[in-house]
Amino acid sequence: MTAAVIDGKAFAATLRARVGDLAAAFEAKAGRKAGLAVVLVGEDPASQVYVRSKGKSTVEAGMNSFEYKLPADTAEADLLATVDQLNADPAVDGILVQLPLPKHIDEQKVIAAINPDKDVDGFHVTNAGRLAVGQPGFVPCTPLGCLMLLKDRLGDLSGLDAVVIGRSNIVGKPMAQLLIAESCTVTVAHSRTKDLAQVVKRADIVVAAVGRAEMVKGDWIKPGATVIDVGINRVAGAEAGKTKLVGDVDYDSAAAVASAITPVPGGVGPMTIAVLLRNTLVAAYRNEG
Ligand code: GUN
Repeated sequence: MTAAVIDGKAFAATLRARVGDLAAAFEAKAGRKAGLAVVLVGEDPASQVYVRSKGKSTVEAGMNSFEYKLPADTAEADLLATVDQLNADPAVDGILVQLPLPKHIDEQKVIAAINPDKDVDGFHVTNAGRLAVGQPGFVPCTPLGCLMLLKDRLGDLSGLDAVVIGRSNIVGKPMAQLLIAESCTVTVAHSRTKDLAQVVKRADIVVAAVGRAEMVKGDWIKPGATVIDVGINRVAGAEAGKTKLVGDVDYDSAAAVASAITPVPGGVGPMTIAVLLRNTLVAAYRNEG
């Protein structure tokens, strides 16, 4: 079997176009554009690339982008004051504080300061709680994007065995909650899991979010399973001095066994920003009443 390639890039482009149409409708109704504020502290190069890309995509979707670039030595109190100011600003529907933050700042304290109804990342404990009990709220963008790809591919997920590898607050835990809500039988595996290969072998759905290059091998995958690879790992390429991006799944061996798989790049990655734009628009409609 050769797996179908799940084209996250195309799915994300369609979602972004739909958000663009709805953003125009919002502007016509509310008399203002929906707005997303992104706060970056410090000069981490990867974070700078993400923030630039988020800003560009926000404007392309017909929304306002407000960027706050603060120096690496910004005091925690000053960052909290910026968050407070954005909470109070009616032009700002969504607030995203780019992670990781410099070591001297308590990330949980900053996330807790964001108004949960502007928390388009879905990281606030209020939104984590809402997801856990099935109340409407904001769901973290990457796992929600994974769920959209799974439902587009498989339709009803009810009764399927799902294994999520990784237990982070940003991906693994919310992914498990989303799959439980879809009536999957969910196992959350992680670095301490015994016989990981055997655990993965049971799954109709595998979501790999561990951050270890090509860790999940093809012979761990049940024939016909659907594989969602959240990993983005930079490794040495075939040519000297060149690097390339790979996922947490060993793509070639897994694609020989699975029925469908997301590539890296071009799978889950493009979904994250598309869902962020979607969450921002949802926030705008909710905030406008
Ligand atoms: N850093 C890497 N990914 C993300 C994300 O989705 N949201 C935020 N706030 N920071 C990140």
